[in-house]
Amino acid sequence: MNINQTRINYVDICFGLCWGDEGKGKIVSFLSKKGQYNFVCRWAGGNNAGHTIYLNGKKYKTHLIPSGVFFGIPSIIGPDCVINQKGFQEEINYLNENGFDTQLIKVSPKAHVITDSHIEEDNKKYFKTQGTTGKGIAPCYRDKYGRNGTRAESIDYFKKYLWDEKIYGNVLCEGAQGFWLDINYGNYPYVTSSTTLPYGACSLGFSPKIIRHIYGAAKIYDTRSGKDPLFPESLMESISLTNVGLKGEEYGTTTGRKRTINWLNLDKLINAIKLSGTTDIIISKVDILEELKEFHLIYNQKQNTYQSMSEMQIFIQTTINSLCPLVNKIYFSSNKEIVENFEF
Ligand code: IMP
Ligand code: MG
Repeated sequence: MNINQTRINYVDICFGLCWGDEGKGKIVSFLSKKGQYNFVCRWAGGNNAGHTIYLNGKKYKTHLIPSGVFFGIPSIIGPDCVINQKGFQEEINYLNENGFDTQLIKVSPKAHVITDSHIEEDNKKYFKTQGTTGKGIAPCYRDKYGRNGTRAESIDYFKKYLWDEKIYGNVLCEGAQGFWLDINYGNYPYVTSSTTLPYGACSLGFSPKIIRHIYGAAKIYDTRSGKDPLFPESLMESISLTNVGLKGEEYGTTTGRKRTINWLNLDKLINAIKLSGTTDIIISKVDILEELKEFHLIYNQKQNTYQSMSEMQIFIQTTINSLCPLVNKIYFSSNKEIVENFEF
């Protein structure tokens, strides 16, 4: 590939349309494997995220480092990310032990540093009341926006990882968390402290005009990890929803906590698709509802029930297509399937 190192051809973005845990890792792996990207970048958040990557039959997990590193692609931690030295070094060690080239990993000099006292404060103040991941995210962003934070460029340890802030060719941006955890659009204060919407990716240093595809990830049912009054504890009393959680193995990648389950809220999904400008949608885990023969979703604030998965899929497809003009394709995939048959 002949690449002009002074310009970007296009940017693709993969992000979560719900509350995180929508299977972004699988989509990013699929896209990266095609080998067309020169960079894979994270634009926000820190090691509060949990990305699961399947490669050659093995399961890998990262929390901060973008998944490009698994596919030999330079991986950037962007200027609006937050980074804890110890957590970062642990991931570097893990990747080295598993034979991946960690020289591909670069950190923006502008990324802010999560200190031990940020972590301590998060665990003392927010962990219980807001169900945070306890990684120091909120206190670190508070100090950043209070113009009182510490950037990676001023810490010796990060020197050898610093990114030269050049970006070119074909770029993939990897979202963390999801639309409804966004600092502006989520159920505040039960949100994370960063911009989870695709526009946030422009903080990496490109114009919104250069964005090509926006891949939005969702599941055929909703899950929420952490506290949120919109996901009340009473949902746990439903046997059907409990079974979905068990069958779908809905436990947090970062915290190990049980996620609260609800039927897919199509009203919210459509809102997220429209506001984000999503062009391609991947709805995964349809096999979980198929196995349980439970075909429900929420639309116009009412619960709809269907006879089969195909009936439910047709409804989702026609409703989204009629309301979201930017959407090109909607894919449905199963849990085990590593999205191989998509024609993005
Ligand atoms: P924080 O980002 O650790 O401050 O957590 C704020 C809220 O976002 C809590 O409800 C967390 O459970 C949730 N959250 C943060 N990161 C993720 C994620 O990667 N997946 C799902 N939920 C997340
Ligand atoms: Mg995740």
